Amino acid sequence: MKTQVCIIGGGPSGLLLSQLLDLKGIDTIVLEKHSREYVLGRIRAGVLEHGFAELMREAECGERMDREGETHDGFEISDNGVLKRVDLKTYSGGSSVIVYGQTELTRDLYEARDKRGGKVIHNVEDVKLHDLNAQTPPFVTYRDGDDIRRIDCDFVIGADGFHGPSRKAIPAGVLREYEKVYPFGWLGVLSRTKPVNPELIYARHERGFALCSLRSQVLSRYYIQVPLTDTVEDWSDEAFWEELKKRLPEEVAARLETGPSIEKSIAPLRSFVAEPMRWGNLFLAGDAAHIVPPTGARGLNTAASDIHYLYHAMVDHYLKGDDTGLEQYSGKALARVWKTQRFSWLLTSMLHTFPDANPYDQKIQAADIDYLFSSEAAKSMLAENYVGLPF
Ligand code: APR
Ligand code: PHB
Repeated sequence: MKTQVCIIGGGPSGLLLSQLLDLKGIDTIVLEKHSREYVLGRIRAGVLEHGFAELMREAECGERMDREGETHDGFEISDNGVLKRVDLKTYSGGSSVIVYGQTELTRDLYEARDKRGGKVIHNVEDVKLHDLNAQTPPFVTYRDGDDIRRIDCDFVIGADGFHGPSRKAIPAGVLREYEKVYPFGWLGVLSRTKPVNPELIYARHERGFALCSLRSQVLSRYYIQVPLTDTVEDWSDEAFWEELKKRLPEEVAARLETGPSIEKSIAPLRSFVAEPMRWGNLFLAGDAAHIVPPTGARGLNTAASDIHYLYHAMVDHYLKGDDTGLEQYSGKALARVWKTQRFSWLLTSMLHTFPDANPYDQKIQAADIDYLFSSEAAKSMLAENYVGLPF
């Protein structure tokens, strides 16, 4: 097969780029390791920056997001039981976020690709990348049962997530990796219950962090910080609800509607960045290049700016013969990636209990929160990062 842009990974990053390029008449093929059902079965985050929402609308995929998603103008921080609101709209100069599950967003992207006859090949195995930085154009091979298929292309996009092959195709002598592992994880529960609060609540508590989020008015998403040694089996639904209540303000805990978990999982927290995000005709995007702890809801939103830059760079290449965007991609994408890394690290540091924190560390953490709520500048910093830094 031959295409202009071969995209590895049928998650939100790969699908969004494929849709945007297709709308400009640029041909793509998306290779996805799993079935569509498997991809859509993953429970992921649910807060979209306004920049991401704009990209979805530009990709003609924003209709259900605008209809079913909830616009949020702020969220609450509970500091050892005292609720304080972060007014995003006021302190970001008028921006908000949309609460809309990544699963639904990925479903919308798949349906949009189907409508345009987009080529997404599922259940591909042993994807290999060839001639990425050679005088001859790159190509990708994969196994289809007993056959080896080959896709000749101009460019390869590595949108294959943290565990995909693309980042590993960059030679060790070229690739630089930066990582920070946190000494705790998040136990998450999805339940068909009414959300405890109209806006999200990020709770800092001596027992550990907790988060009250939602997917709709009938589907709630809750998290509590747990030690890395915990397993899902250690936590019955009842134990989860009891611990969550202990970390929330009394008036919130009193109105918490509990119910059976329809999904329950533990995710470790990690910060990770790979540089460069380009090597020859390979471009990395999304989780393939960077991972953030979920505290700041930046995972999918950081992928959005990678896709935005790649989209415009490819359009300039194919429609204007201008390669400036391609040449500047890695530097430009990483500049924003590192700012979202910093924001995710900052929120994680401010809101979690750290096992090795000494009394001084705990006083600094309290001062961080105190400064946030006593400084107009600090509120603006938090708000502009949370609604999304400009692309
Ligand atoms: N061959 C083909 N596809 C692959 C391979 C492979 N060898 N390895 C992984 N993939 C697919 C995965 O099955 C997945 O569907 O690549 C896709 C990568 O999607 P994501 O992991 O969702 O990454 P991305 O599209 O960048 O979206 C980032 O997802 O993980 C969350 O928090 C993250 O919200 C963020 C978003
Ligand atoms: C979620 O709804 O899953 C969610 C929301 C906000 C976060 C993290 C996760 O910061």
